[in-house]
Amino acid sequence: MLRTARRDSVAHMASFRVAFVQGAPRFGRVAENLERGLTLAAGVEADLSVLPELWSSGYVFSTHAEVASLAEDATTGPTARALIAAARRDRRHLIAGFPERHRGRFYNSALLVGPGGVKAVYRKLHLFDREQEWFSPGDLPLAVHRVGPARVGLLICFDWRFPETARALALMGADVIAHPSNLVFANAQAAMLTRSIENRVYTVTANRIGVESRPGGRVAFTGRSQIVDPRGAVVARAGVRETCARAADVDLAQARDKTLTPMTNLFRSRRPRFYRRLVAAAH
Ligand code: ACM
Repeated sequence: MLRTARRDSVAHMASFRVAFVQGAPRFGRVAENLERGLTLAAGVEADLSVLPELWSSGYVFSTHAEVASLAEDATTGPTARALIAAARRDRRHLIAGFPERHRGRFYNSALLVGPGGVKAVYRKLHLFDREQEWFSPGDLPLAVHRVGPARVGLLICFDWRFPETARALALMGADVIAHPSNLVFANAQAAMLTRSIENRVYTVTANRIGVESRPGGRVAFTGRSQIVDPRGAVVARAGVRETCARAADVDLAQARDKTLTPMTNLFRSRRPRFYRRLVAAAH
């Protein structure tokens, strides 16, 4: 009986399609970067397109003045305006990374925008390496947002290294974790397969390619953007150096079904009182 009911609900669940954009922005060329990224996004049909981390600005900052001059207001800045225009034109939702200015602080943030305007901002919780010189760590709670029939959570790049973040989003009901990135560790894409498997969610990693060499340093990015399904299968993938956008259908029923065997439900099998240390303060 239960099985039949589940199959019926699969059949009636609305379709949802996600995409990533992969490429290399040019440092400081905000208008050009946004135009190129959103043109790539428009080239593949999707309900939600995810662009990489710090897409509008580039990654390797060299002075605080540079951060201050490129940081934007989350609702009125060039990234918000460009994303809203594209969301209305292409009738879809978009996520992109940008440097945010808010009340005298700077954050490594991502915007979720739909045809109705800005829906959410996420501020990267786990800053990587020199990012700590330029940005304040995220100060907003992890959250899940309705995007059409889907429930979407956001992480940014190095957050992947902290499985607690993806687990928290999954426990809040995320079907899809959008993951704008500028990945530098070669094992991050593989780890994201695990994030999908251990939470039975889709993950969409939109990564950068190439090398950014500036007075502030030289950083090489790993490409290989991917969409991973709740069983850990890669359903869309880019190459190491490709500039592209790629999409895949999301099976929302699959993401919502946490059943592993008739007697084993992924979430109900958890024993959180034995791992309270996971959420204890660092020491
Ligand atoms: C990173 O978090 N951009 C490595």
